[in-house]
Amino acid sequence: MLKGKHIILGISGGIAAYKSVYLLRLLIKAGAEVQVIITPNGKEFITPVTLSSLSGKPVISEFFTANTGEWHSHVDLGLWADAMIIAPATASTLAKMANGVADNMLITTYLSSKSKVFVAPAMDLDMWKHPSTQRNIDTLKSDGVSIIEPGAGELASHLVGKGRMEEPENILKSIEQYFACQQDLIDKKVLITAGPTYENIDPVRFIGNYSSGKMGFALAEECAKRGATVTLVAGPVGLKISNDKVNRIDVVSAKEMCEQCKEHFDECDIAILCAAVADYAPKDYYDSKIKREKTDTITIELVKNPDIAATLGKLKTQNQLLVGFALETDNERENAIRKIKNKNLDWIVLNSLKDLEAGFQKDTNKVTLLSVKGQEIPFEAKLKQEVAKDIIDTILKN
Ligand code: PMT
Repeated sequence: MLKGKHIILGISGGIAAYKSVYLLRLLIKAGAEVQVIITPNGKEFITPVTLSSLSGKPVISEFFTANTGEWHSHVDLGLWADAMIIAPATASTLAKMANGVADNMLITTYLSSKSKVFVAPAMDLDMWKHPSTQRNIDTLKSDGVSIIEPGAGELASHLVGKGRMEEPENILKSIEQYFACQQDLIDKKVLITAGPTYENIDPVRFIGNYSSGKMGFALAEECAKRGATVTLVAGPVGLKISNDKVNRIDVVSAKEMCEQCKEHFDECDIAILCAAVADYAPKDYYDSKIKREKTDTITIELVKNPDIAATLGKLKTQNQLLVGFALETDNERENAIRKIKNKNLDWIVLNSLKDLEAGFQKDTNKVTLLSVKGQEIPFEAKLKQEVAKDIIDTILKN
């Protein structure tokens, strides 16, 4: 269940920190990749050496390494994580989380995190009962944080009551249950196109576009995370894919992309065509570099490329979902609706170059999803990873 999942294990300063070592072992045994972030007080209870030996990664505690000046980016960590679990979470850490007091690496990462966050509080019974702690717990719940309630029993103070951190085995179960619900694409096959196509003119020149592949790769990662087997047909891009559930096929031209899509379409349940495919390619390819001539103009004759979306639209069966993208500069809605019909799509993801946060190369996108049934669902500008999640949530639920 946790194989390949990226988990941040946050440890704050309480005696229950010793239990985090067991939790770390369980997470690693379950196949997760774990990055430990420990608060300065946490280090008083458990040593980073123990934790790094078990996780196989240096433990992060400070914003930067003093002798090298190397920065630890809380933003990168927040994006890397599929889930974050803070165990033990002390009263002080809960208060900082609830109020956005970002004075250590753990809290800054929490504030940057896009993933699910769990906390396993641990403290003395009166601290747990205190109205301020309970107010912070309520705030965190309404912020979407899952609270793994502490158990009752003898506490470090020898008092008896509620405040013991939940046992590591039960914390693991909560995390596994969360990922079980996220696996809504298990046993599904998804075909995704990404990036530009290059249509060669001669050995050194081509017709292409500015697509970086970021949107398509984010979709591939999202589908693989949710359990799908993904075939990613990618034009020439400089991106890497980390999930081994993604079978990446690199192509250059629209014709090559079309051939690969046709080959893999009949086995897929969902196809999402995010590539910016060149509509035209040079009629002739010059084997040698075209030389600069004395004439001021040269003419390169272009011929239409296959329309991959329309080709797949004709092959589509009742059990398949076909999702296209529309990149528009004007008459956005009308053009997108026309493309749904012409290409026999179930959904189209409209993004407009008029929006500063949308389009080529950006880390963000701003999309509206339109369906053949007439639904129209606009979204705010978000990181492409989050846009990918919105797209998959929408096409699965509607
Ligand atoms: O890669 P990034 O830098 O992250 O940028 C993302 C993006 C802007 C490329 C992406 O969000 C996007 O909009 N992709 C589609 C771009 C496009 O070509 O749109 P279009 O309106 O021209 O095409 C409509 C649909 O038909 C698209 O699904 C396209 O993949 C498909 N098409 C187009 C032409 C063609 N010959 N064959 C096709 O299948």
